[in-house]
Amino acid sequence: MVDGSNDDIARSGAPRVSPGRRQDVHWQALEVTAQARADLLGNQPRVLWFTGLSGAGKTTIAGLVEKQLHALGRPVYVLDGDNVRQGLNKDLGFTDADRVENIRRVAEVAKMMADAGLIVLVSLISPFRAERRMARELMKPGEFIEIFVDTPLEVAEARDPKGLYKKARRGELKNFTAIDSPYERPEQPEVRVETTLCDPATAAFQVLTVLQQSWKDASIDAAKQTAEPEQSLADAPATQDEAFAGAPIVAAAAAAAAAAKAAAKATATLPAAPAAASRPPIVAHGGRTIYSFIVDADPKTAYKGYYLSKSLIEHGCDHAADVNVQFTREVGAGTRALFDKLGCTLHDLQRFGDARTCNKIAQLANLHPIDFDHAVLLDSDMIAIADPRPYLSYDALTAKVVDLAQPPLEVLEEIARLAGMQGLPPIGTVDAAYLPTYTGHCDSAFFCVPKAYAVKVDQAWRRWALWLLDHMEPLTRTGTQHRVDQVSMWLAITMDRIPYRAAPSNINYHLHPDGDHRYFDANSGIVLLHYSDASLNAVGKVEPRGRLNELEQRAVAKANAQIDAGWASDGPTAQHGMSDTASSR
Ligand code: ADX
Repeated sequence: MVDGSNDDIARSGAPRVSPGRRQDVHWQALEVTAQARADLLGNQPRVLWFTGLSGAGKTTIAGLVEKQLHALGRPVYVLDGDNVRQGLNKDLGFTDADRVENIRRVAEVAKMMADAGLIVLVSLISPFRAERRMARELMKPGEFIEIFVDTPLEVAEARDPKGLYKKARRGELKNFTAIDSPYERPEQPEVRVETTLCDPATAAFQVLTVLQQSWKDASIDAAKQTAEPEQSLADAPATQDEAFAGAPIVAAAAAAAAAAKAAAKATATLPAAPAAASRPPIVAHGGRTIYSFIVDADPKTAYKGYYLSKSLIEHGCDHAADVNVQFTREVGAGTRALFDKLGCTLHDLQRFGDARTCNKIAQLANLHPIDFDHAVLLDSDMIAIADPRPYLSYDALTAKVVDLAQPPLEVLEEIARLAGMQGLPPIGTVDAAYLPTYTGHCDSAFFCVPKAYAVKVDQAWRRWALWLLDHMEPLTRTGTQHRVDQVSMWLAITMDRIPYRAAPSNINYHLHPDGDHRYFDANSGIVLLHYSDASLNAVGKVEPRGRLNELEQRAVAKANAQIDAGWASDGPTAQHGMSDTASSR
């Protein structure tokens, strides 16, 4: 039976629509919206549509993407052709009309699942352009991502995991895709994966990167639509926590949630999110937290360190003396006096290792005599805008996973082999991209060492740094020789079994031009802004290049307000401080 009036179906012969029924069926509007369901799951739904020949690798890649998203706490579901054909579509075969119906049903199911708030991974040969277009048009704008798993027929046929190509060639299987049934290559897929050029894990990362980008684009659009630019900073809620409470774990998504919240506020139809202040901190804090960073011959480190100290005194400790400033021997008395006046504790730093990045390791030696609970080692190009103490663990070293895969996974693996590591730690992904790295490979701009492990960390870190300086080839080859402190800490954590706890991006929030922070805890705001040298403008204010999301704009505004306040009292200005901090006013 053919329903000639069914204009949804491009190819004739689709038999399963009863004529005359559709006009009697009416869409029922429901009160719980798709957005509300997605918000509840902390998700931005997408339909990732994998198309390609049988044996191309769709299921394998979709499976890896599923695993990764699941591990990241994203609700995800795979609709795979072979599986769907065992149930929902068991009445369908492989004629053109049956394939059209197969794809139509799966597209409708995917639409419902996306509407329910899920990320849906569809893995179907879906050989016809018209049906893939139909599926795309069924979804909301921007929701559909087409992934062409591009494997040449010879390769898929050589793999022939189910022996179906052989059967088709022998004529035992009719209408087999690319043998006696067409496959229409996608013309403009969002992702094209060439499986002859990359392994499935790399292909999965490629897909995840595009997915992440689509989330980001959507949040920027949402923020644009709902936020009035002049008003956004002036109208900022009293605390950053308040602004971003309840948003999902991706920084870009936090902006979207903020925008959604702004919209909700405007229409006053949703109850307010619970106040962040009532949320328990990740780890209850108490005890004494001290901070430490280095001021060296470069006057800029003194300028940055001065405002870091002031911000820590304001937000992160009970006494100014808990801020420990470690001077290299070149630093003059004028600069030291500046920090002395703030009430900081001053130290002479002993050179260690390469006397550059390795100096960081030498800081602990000066801190051991202090009666602290946590010692937090920081880079100087950071500024505190909230209290880091709720994030610190008593029984593990706390640090944030690296932002970028530098050095890359293979290089860590090579170093691990050289170091005689037995078995490798689990693989996770870095903060700023969907790239793999080993657990414990953390960003050296923020290490929090609990007292109980301070000596052990100090010894293991020194030992591995010295060892690494003798085995620099993998790092120099990959241009990552300045990461000795970071990689040696990874070796110390892994080889010496130092308990390690991954902290969220909040406590070491790098400002990137493209600012993604996958481990951002949206229950709080940015705690320590890591602005980096490049973002300090000629007058000594934080002025990052590139587009910032609302959360970052607010953090930068707060950082600059602190610098302003310092200028207004007797802190160093760019004029006095950055060129020669020693000549304090
Ligand atoms: S689609 O064309 O309708 O999208 P679908 O992805 O659901 O196809 O099913 C493809 C799977 O069915 C293949 O991976 C293969 O295991 C099996 N199969 C059985 N017969 C055929 C055939 N004639 N053509 C393609 N795949 C077939």
